[in-house]
Amino acid sequence: MDQKRKLYIETYGCQMNFSDTQIVGSIMTDHNFETTGNISEADLIFVNTCSIRDNAEKRVRARLQEFKRYKKQKPGLIIGVLGCMAERLKEQLISEEKMVDVIVGPDAYRDLPRLLNVAEGGQKAINVILSADETYADINPVRLDSNGVSAFISIMRGCENFCSYCVVPYTRGRERSRDPLTIVKEAGELFSEGYREVTLLGQNVNSYKWDDGTGFSKLLERVAMVNPLLRVRFATSHPKDLTDELLHTMAAYPNICRSIHLPVQSGSDRILKLMNRKYDSSWYRQRIEAIRKILPGCAISTDIITGFCSETDQDHRDTLDMMNWVAYDYAFMFKYSERPDTLAHKKYKDDVPEEVKSVRLQEIINLQQELSFRSNHADIGKTFEVLAESVSRKSGKELSGRNSQNKVVVFPKKDYKPGDYINVKVNACTPATLKGEVI
Ligand code: 5AD
Ligand code: SF4
Repeated sequence: MDQKRKLYIETYGCQMNFSDTQIVGSIMTDHNFETTGNISEADLIFVNTCSIRDNAEKRVRARLQEFKRYKKQKPGLIIGVLGCMAERLKEQLISEEKMVDVIVGPDAYRDLPRLLNVAEGGQKAINVILSADETYADINPVRLDSNGVSAFISIMRGCENFCSYCVVPYTRGRERSRDPLTIVKEAGELFSEGYREVTLLGQNVNSYKWDDGTGFSKLLERVAMVNPLLRVRFATSHPKDLTDELLHTMAAYPNICRSIHLPVQSGSDRILKLMNRKYDSSWYRQRIEAIRKILPGCAISTDIITGFCSETDQDHRDTLDMMNWVAYDYAFMFKYSERPDTLAHKKYKDDVPEEVKSVRLQEIINLQQELSFRSNHADIGKTFEVLAESVSRKSGKELSGRNSQNKVVVFPKKDYKPGDYINVKVNACTPATLKGEVI
């Protein structure tokens, strides 16, 4: 039998990219490759890339420079760039980064074996065709780096919201949903393999729609019904279409986790309009009120961009006000990074000075730290059902898991193991984790 060749994959960016890497792993293992975590034994190196901010691209380019070394050591080594940077830059990336042999956009992974043949013949190979219907529904992801407890399930691809700052509609193409039967089947298989948590992934999960009329609420319910011991999470929701129906579905199933990621981006109505977010701050607040009413105890997290085109001190204060008003449990916070060919790049000037962006970002980070700490502090004395995920790196005597609100909880290991549900009473916290005792 042929000896299997070795593939090393590195992944950058969002959860969707990590999920795509598992699809790629599956396609390649069907073509006589096996994955390796050791780059120096690789015959093939893939980088699955992100274009969301300039620094994400810079990081990948720096990494590509490092790969040159391996190519010198092993002349037949092939290097492929996958994902959003491949899609955005196309041939340009090959001319700028000479060590790259293969360029593959997010909808072209089925073509990888053929592209690899081309590259092995000594030619550069590229496929960046976007698809209107590719969902990789029939491909069984290889669960690389899995903890055996939680897994992603990709339920839709692409985005058509066209937020003015965002490159995703260009790199990931048209919105399309995956057949619900294949999603429910995948969740069931994961449960039988011992997994206890699935996260349904899409750039905008609330837009999920299958031909038979199944919308996201219905899909979520079907996945929740796979087994009461299977936790279900989802990301990401767009505030403009977070419906009461969805919140009521969540309320009806205790295994749908009490945690909603609802990117606000800015607290200023003027900026939200320029961002083409299609909601204003009062709509957003009213959605938060609906969550508080229908799902008491639900954690709320967000994404914030600071320093968007023309943002004033007043706009910035509106964002801080919004953060205070919602009292987010967690936030991802970014400086605006202008992306070529987006609506904002074409229509507005990236005119907030870098220093101002930095100061505002720091204020936002400081406030969020305070809010996160306050939120954790308020949990002291409460008891949560925790799904254990891994043995704590530091001591080996502690288990680490998460509660329904997605907070990390650390507690004494005793005889428990990853995959167990354990009731933990919180008795201390840091800004990032809760600590407790098993009860
Ligand atoms: N600059 C900075 N942050 C961005 N995001 C998306 N595009 C940009 C950009 N051009 C952020 C948004 C989004 C998250 C995934 O990344 O907050 O919700
Ligand atoms: Fe990055 Fe967006 Fe592409 Fe994900 S979809 S990898 S966040 S650019």
